[in-house]
Amino acid sequence: MNVAIKTPDEIDKMREAGRQAASVLEMLAPRVQAGISTGELDRLCHDYILDELGSTPAPLDYHGFPKSICTSLNHVVCHGIPDDAKKLKKGDIMNIDITVRTADGYHGDSSMMFIIGESIQGERLCRVTQECLYHSIALVRPGVRLSELARAIQQHADANGYSVVRDFCGHGIGAGFHEDPQILHYDGYAPEADIELAAGMCFTIEPMINLGGYQTKVLRDGWTAVTRDKSLSAQWEHTLLVTETGVEVLTARGDEDLAFLDP
Ligand code: MF3
Ligand code: CO
Ligand code: CO
Repeated sequence: MNVAIKTPDEIDKMREAGRQAASVLEMLAPRVQAGISTGELDRLCHDYILDELGSTPAPLDYHGFPKSICTSLNHVVCHGIPDDAKKLKKGDIMNIDITVRTADGYHGDSSMMFIIGESIQGERLCRVTQECLYHSIALVRPGVRLSELARAIQQHADANGYSVVRDFCGHGIGAGFHEDPQILHYDGYAPEADIELAAGMCFTIEPMINLGGYQTKVLRDGWTAVTRDKSLSAQWEHTLLVTETGVEVLTARGDEDLAFLDP
């Protein structure tokens, strides 16, 4: 497998793409409230990405995806399609996944969970899933193997009685939305896919963690992936750069405490 090492110029463009994706989630956060529809959230993002950022929402028309963001509610694992008829209500949990393609042609990809009102089960699932992401990010540096990142996620999910989705994975990212390598979040690397990280690689980690079983199915719209047992599912995603000494979180938001990454 040939994994691209970004040049310094490409890395600058990836930093800008990452900042832009983060800014969309920051813009959106105060608007995610009971009563708003996922269709309205989609329009807010679409307009912001075009008008304020001068970029394009990468999901729109990507292999036929009909909207600009993914909104995945409750038992939806990923790739939920925004819908004007789908209004948020108290007790919902939702992932919003944003991918921006800058005018320079580089991608920033990030997602986070929102809890509408209160959900005890949902809050715990969302917190543990973010911890899975953070535990794996903390390991990123040159020489580490992808299976080590996967194992950190699998162990933390197992320890909390949750399961790790196997049907979707993270990915390399750059001028392409989805580049090599595939980033698995569970123990399951074939030896030839279990590459060593090197400085200049960019990829996402985006674990999907289920309250019940790991199995998923895609609905007849061809996109919406749900848990087979209808249990709750959560996901968090960042776009990362491997540096000489560790990692840079290209899609870090202002609300995040990433001090755990400091040496
Ligand atoms: N942003 C998703 C990811 O993390 C991909 C969405 S593909 C789409 O890779 F077509 F559904 F938008
Ligand atoms: Co992604
Ligand atoms: Co994404």
